[in-house]
Amino acid sequence: MTAIVDPALETYAADHTTAPPPHLDALAEDLRATLDDPGMMVGPLEGRFLEFLAFALSARAVLEIGTFGGYSALAMAAGLSPGGTITTCELSPVHAAFARRHIASSPFADRIEVVEGPALETVPGLPGPFDLVFIDADKAGYPAYLEAVLPKLSRRGLVVVDNTLWSGRVLDPDDTSEDTEALRRFNDDAAADPRLVAVQTTVRDGVTLIRKAG
Ligand SMILES: C[S@@+](CC[C@H](N)C(=O)[O-])C[C@H]1O[C@@H](n2cnc3c(N)ncnc32)[C@H](O)[C@@H]1O
Repeated sequence: MTAIVDPALETYAADHTTAPPPHLDALAEDLRATLDDPGMMVGPLEGRFLEFLAFALSARAVLEIGTFGGYSALAMAAGLSPGGTITTCELSPVHAAFARRHIASSPFADRIEVVEGPALETVPGLPGPFDLVFIDADKAGYPAYLEAVLPKLSRRGLVVVDNTLWSGRVLDPDDTSEDTEALRRFNDDAAADPRLVAVQTTVRDGVTLIRKAG
């Protein structure tokens, strides 16, 4: 992943963010050694950012689409309200097993449920309402994920969408890959949708925050 923020500034920002707890460092180290594409993990800076959102929202119910190794789910768990829970959806049995193992040995074993299968099949069966939804799975699926979660969002809930600047490829007219085109459409539609209020941030690879208008 190419940094969209000047790498020196990104490092400075990470250095001035409270360091992750030992269970997240252990997960990240194990993931780098055993799973492909470790760059898919949100990592320390965005992990803290997500934890802050969960904390600021006093989140009691969080939904994640795209567990991978469980880094973001475990990061958000630290910001939950007492008794709060996270449901995280994962397609890959290998990723789900890795995440379950690290969640089980963390302080948040009773707070996070990993549901295996295509998220679009899982989400309609979840009760909600969710105070925080983190979308971080296949990019072509983003529009459908947003539509699936909007009816399940609590009144003051937030949808947080990862990788929306896609290493800056959204600005490259020569990049017409399916994922890049899907993210461009998603970003354009989210900003123009009268049902929504959106802010595109430059956190890590681009994080968009969305809430219902009104
Ligand atoms: C970018 S990674 C998630 C990273 C994770 N949030 C973290 O910070 O560690 C995307 C994950 O979405 C999963 N995924 C892809 N398509 C999916 C689908 N249709 N339903 C559920 N999960 C899916 C992939 O297997 C992968 O583990």
